[in-house]
This record gives sequence, C-alpha cells and structure tokens, in this order.
Amino acid sequence: MIIISPSVLACDFTKLGDEVKKVHAAGAEYIHLDVMDGIFVPNISFGPPVISSLKKVTDIVFDVHLMITQPQRYIKDYVDAGADIITIHYESCEDPLEVVKLIKSYGVRASVSIKPATPAEVLYPMLGELDMVLVMTVEPGFGGQKMIPETIEKVRELREYANKNGIDIDIEVDGGITPDNLKYATEAGANVIVAGSAIFRAEDPVKVINVMKS
Ligand code: DX5
Ligand code: ZN
Repeated sequence: MIIISPSVLACDFTKLGDEVKKVHAAGAEYIHLDVMDGIFVPNISFGPPVISSLKKVTDIVFDVHLMITQPQRYIKDYVDAGADIITIHYESCEDPLEVVKLIKSYGVRASVSIKPATPAEVLYPMLGELDMVLVMTVEPGFGGQKMIPETIEKVRELREYANKNGIDIDIEVDGGITPDNLKYATEAGANVIVAGSAIFRAEDPVKVINVMKS
C-alpha cells in the first residue's frame, strides 16, 4: 500500500491546521514536516513550537524530516513536540546509528535520509535497525524542484537489498514527486511518497491525493 505524506512546506502557513486537516480527510496518512536550520541546508523553516501547536489539532502521523546539523542535540525536543517518525540525514552527523538508537529509545520510529550524491550502500549496515529510509529525489533545502531521475536507482538498490536480507522497511521518496512521475518511484520499491507543491499548490489537493493513491 502507498502512503502519502504531504509536505507542509508548500502550504499556506496562515492556515496550517486547516490545510493539514484537509489532506488528512482526503486520505493522506502522514504529514511531512521539513525542519531546516540554515546550516545543513541553505534555508530555514520551523521548529518544535510550530509542530507542537499543530499536534493539538490533528491526529495524523507526524513524519518529521530533520535537515539540521548534529541532530542528536534536538531529538528529545522533536519527540516532545509530537513526532511519530523522525528522519535524520546520514550526512549530518558522525554516527547516524547512535542517533537512530536515541530516536528509538523514545519509542519513535527512526529513519535515515541520503542526499542525491550519497550512495545507497552507506545505509546497508544499519538497514536492519531502521523503520524507514528517505531517498532524497532533489537536493534538500527547497520545495518546488524537479525530481532527479538518477536517484530512483537508489530506491531500487535499497529495496533489493532489503528483500534479499529479509528486512521489512519503508522507503520514502521526497522532492519533485508528482502524479506523473510517482510510478517510477513506486515501481522501484518506494511505498511512502512525499509531495509538497504537487498537492498544496494544486487547485484541488484532494483530487491530487486521490490520483496519487490510485
Ligand atoms: C526539500 C524537502 C521536501 C520538499 C518537497 O528539502 O525535504 O520535503 O518540501 O516539496 P516538493 O514536493 O515541492 O518538491
Ligand atoms: Zn522533506
């Protein structure tokens, strides 16, 4: 089954609660929350106060994507804010597996992401410890970019490695995903789909979610 995780980065922040309720009602299982620190990526978004406010008005699964350097410093803050899944970046710290263990110690699902230039193999040794991996299909930092087709090959490699080794894992793709190119990601083995602009910038977001799910 395909899970849709709309990224709020593309939504109208003055109506954040309503926007999230709308996509939840339309069948999106997760909401994707992009946290950026202006150091790991050249952009700044929002942090725990926004997430904890949002948590009060919805029970959708909070899929928190941390694009921040040395994420171990802030894991507890995001757990307390209401994260259900926390993704850190392989490139953002010295020992991603230690951070994964920290996330799991709070009973929260743990995920690691790789940027377009990072090979899939770096995740193989820790794959059995993860609930999800996030393959970035654009350079992290901004919504509204075009998906980089070469990144889809890494989805295929990760799915093959997981299958071969009996590892049950979610594979999420993030960046430039639209109803038109979604099939390349799902055929390669992705089952969690992030979409920001394609959903929130559409005239009819509900319709886009339905098309993506079908
Ligand atoms: C990019 C973010 C994405 C982004 C997706 O750094 O991680 O989640 O918001 O937005 P679209 O779907 O517009 O590429
Ligand atoms: Zn993201």
